[in-house]
Amino acid sequence: MTTAVILAAGEGKRMQSRRPKVLHEICGYPMLAHVIHAARSVCSDVIVVVGHQGEEIRAAFGDSVVYAEQHEQLGTAHALLQAEPLLPDAGTVLVLCGDTPLLSPGAIEELYAVHSREAAAATVLTATVPNPFGYGRIVRGAGGEIIKIVEEKDATAAEKLLREINTGTYAFDVKALREGLAGVGSDNAAGEYYLTDCIELIIKSGKKVATSLLPDYRLALGVNDRIQLAEAQALLQERINRDLMAAGVTMINPATIYVDAGVKVGRDTVILPNTALRGRTVVGEGCVIGPQTEITDSTIGSGSHIRHSVVTESILEENVTVGPFTHLRPGTVLKNGVKVGDFVEIKQSQVGEGSKIPHLSYIGDAEIGSGVNLGGGTIVVNYDGRKKYKTVVADGAFVGCNSNLVAPVTIGRGAFVAAGSTITNDVPAGALSLARARQVDKPGLGARLLGHKDDEN
Ligand code: UD1
Ligand code: CA
Repeated sequence: MTTAVILAAGEGKRMQSRRPKVLHEICGYPMLAHVIHAARSVCSDVIVVVGHQGEEIRAAFGDSVVYAEQHEQLGTAHALLQAEPLLPDAGTVLVLCGDTPLLSPGAIEELYAVHSREAAAATVLTATVPNPFGYGRIVRGAGGEIIKIVEEKDATAAEKLLREINTGTYAFDVKALREGLAGVGSDNAAGEYYLTDCIELIIKSGKKVATSLLPDYRLALGVNDRIQLAEAQALLQERINRDLMAAGVTMINPATIYVDAGVKVGRDTVILPNTALRGRTVVGEGCVIGPQTEITDSTIGSGSHIRHSVVTESILEENVTVGPFTHLRPGTVLKNGVKVGDFVEIKQSQVGEGSKIPHLSYIGDAEIGSGVNLGGGTIVVNYDGRKKYKTVVADGAFVGCNSNLVAPVTIGRGAFVAAGSTITNDVPAGALSLARARQVDKPGLGARLLGHKDDEN
């Protein structure tokens, strides 16, 4: 296995941001995470060169990678030089930029394969793009061989017309790289030490430099500003959605469906418009998700239907029905066949098999058994302003509409709570509990208060 160096020390001025550029996210993960993932397809060791706001990058990635520090941002060659002492004495080193998040593992594998096959001293990953503005251009000789890379700022009018660009991704023989880096100067329009100059120096020293052309130029997108960030997001989203559809997921209007990298969705699941599946979410087979649904870090069992709802850090077993307008907050567990309906909020609670919470309820810190029916407007009163308490509703219990269950409290197995009750004491199994004021009727008083004559009734 080889070593990768990812350059991520630049300020990223064009982002106009307080955050380091490479921590801006696309499809749920920082750009740098996508680049690390791609690099790992051929590299066991990953070195990230940090500088500007390096502490934030170190905090985000911890010890999953090794860091080199570039104190002053003097250019890409200077950045790589800071990692040079950490490189092995011999072998291949891959160099990537932290701001090209769309390069796939396959593209990196292909670069490495070309480099090995050609026994090159360096191999440049290139792409032919419709609009090369801002990229380094690949300048080729009469025989088609690469001669040098020229940056936008230094390019002649003729060179600016070249549409084959440098993706900023390279494989180097480490010895050739060391010799090249030693020779790079900063005599150019930006006054920077360009890594691209290394390529020219290696060619001039008579060693072989190869190129690997990306079949899909869109993978080359370098993100320098928020417009390119949005482009990258859209392109990666399209790739993720296509992969899911190819694997048997139906998407209705996929342009409005946002699925984070790494989310898993089973076959024959249908995802409806304006839906987002985020983080570590896993959706089973044959589900219907959406429209207008956001699911984050949750597991959804096969055969479940979730529409117009927000689900976070929750586990839904199979054949669960949720929504419309349900909010499932962290720690919710819905067992097989549970039905949760409109305007229901649940947090930190388990709901047993086949139970129903169909309308207008709040359930917090509760354990609801199986076969339970919580009538419309059932509220668990879990918080007294200082502490939270637990509510238990045992199997088969029936809670009438508009009841308050004041925790800590237990409703026994098969108990019946009459509508409108405010339950403050435990209800024994099988009991009927009425906890509300008795109804009193005063004949005629209503009409008098409203100023009607008796015969107007
Ligand atoms: C660079 C390449 C260009 C290529 C393009 C691909 C050079 C000179 N140019 O241009 O040929 O077409 O990428 O996207 O290499 N960085 C540091 N320290 C520095 C400067 C940059 O770590 O001192 C890092 C940045 O954080 C970034 C990467 O290197 O991740 C590329 O730097 P950037 O300034 O974006 O280079 P480009 O102008 O895009
Ligand atoms: Ca860039």
